[in-house]
Amino acid sequence: MKFDIAVLPGDGIGPEIINQAVNVLKKIAEIYGHEFNMREGLMGGCSIDECGEPLPGETLKLCKSSDAVLLGAVGGPKWDSLPGDKRPEAGLLGLRAGLELFANLRPAVIYTALKDASPLRADIVKDGIDIMVVRELTGGIYFGKRGRVNGGPMGESAFDTEVYSVAEVERIARVAFEIAMKRRKVVTSVDKANVLESSRLWREVVIRVSGEYPEVSLNHMYVDNAAMQLIRNPEQFDVIVTTNIFGDILSDEASMITGSIGMLPSASLGKGKPGLYEPIHGSAPDIAGQNKANPIAAILSAAMMLRYSFGLETEAASIESAVVNVLNKGYRTADIASKGAKVVGTYEMGQLVADEVESLNS
Ligand code: IPM
Ligand code: MG
Repeated sequence: MKFDIAVLPGDGIGPEIINQAVNVLKKIAEIYGHEFNMREGLMGGCSIDECGEPLPGETLKLCKSSDAVLLGAVGGPKWDSLPGDKRPEAGLLGLRAGLELFANLRPAVIYTALKDASPLRADIVKDGIDIMVVRELTGGIYFGKRGRVNGGPMGESAFDTEVYSVAEVERIARVAFEIAMKRRKVVTSVDKANVLESSRLWREVVIRVSGEYPEVSLNHMYVDNAAMQLIRNPEQFDVIVTTNIFGDILSDEASMITGSIGMLPSASLGKGKPGLYEPIHGSAPDIAGQNKANPIAAILSAAMMLRYSFGLETEAASIESAVVNVLNKGYRTADIASKGAKVVGTYEMGQLVADEVESLNS
């Protein structure tokens, strides 16, 4: 099969890790006889340096005309003092909005080989953690009205607005229930309905949509309690569905309790538009260009792309097995290394996975 992939390496460690993901994709193409036409674009700080804006029209066009987008990471201290709408992050938000990627899937799983890496006690982790955070990605306070107001008795003030429509909640709720149907069939909807009107609407709509999925059991949790429960008893969660900002926060927490934020991929999906795949971690400017970063989250993001955008389940599973095998052989990048591990660099880890994909299929 033939697919067009827009590749946006971005900033910091982005280019190094994306290189390794691209190599693994090339290996898959070779073994399974696919054609992946990969075209690079500028987005983020590198794009600001090159052409003065974080998301050039050309890049958005490239993405829109592709079957999927593979992204590294954006941002860094160099661009931190720019105004909000000129920052690298604005490029990412523009891309999410431009491609209408309203559903962000962030799996948090513990790999058996890494189970000691969790900062939680073994009696809390028990048999592992396997949570799918479904975060609404194109609405809420990220995209609501914002601004500054001068004057008033307390001086200058600033505001951001949390807004959700019924249609927005319905579509993200459906994504969560559909995913739950393929998992343990439990959805936890996280809101702040004891305080926020937008959360009360959120909860009403989620309850209504749940009527279409009688097999799935639905429960509700306030976000403060959810933050606490993730640490107290992570095993209770299967699918978490929540708003843009709560999902931003809880997905970082969920990934950290697995001990392996450098391992976790994500998918952002819309309706009939190209999906976007990126690691959960950031651009890690402190280790950029040093061959130290863990490329596994980027490689697993490529696997998610094969599964969700191209329907290539066998190929996706083959990448995932290759990663598990390489870990089981004791290879680690520095971020996940414990005593006695065989510590390798970004490039070597990428090669190990690509070689393992090859030997799994020969
Ligand atoms: C994320 C990031 C982004 C977000 C930033 C970089 C704008 O934290 O993808 O979780 O807040 O959505
Ligand atoms: Mg975040």
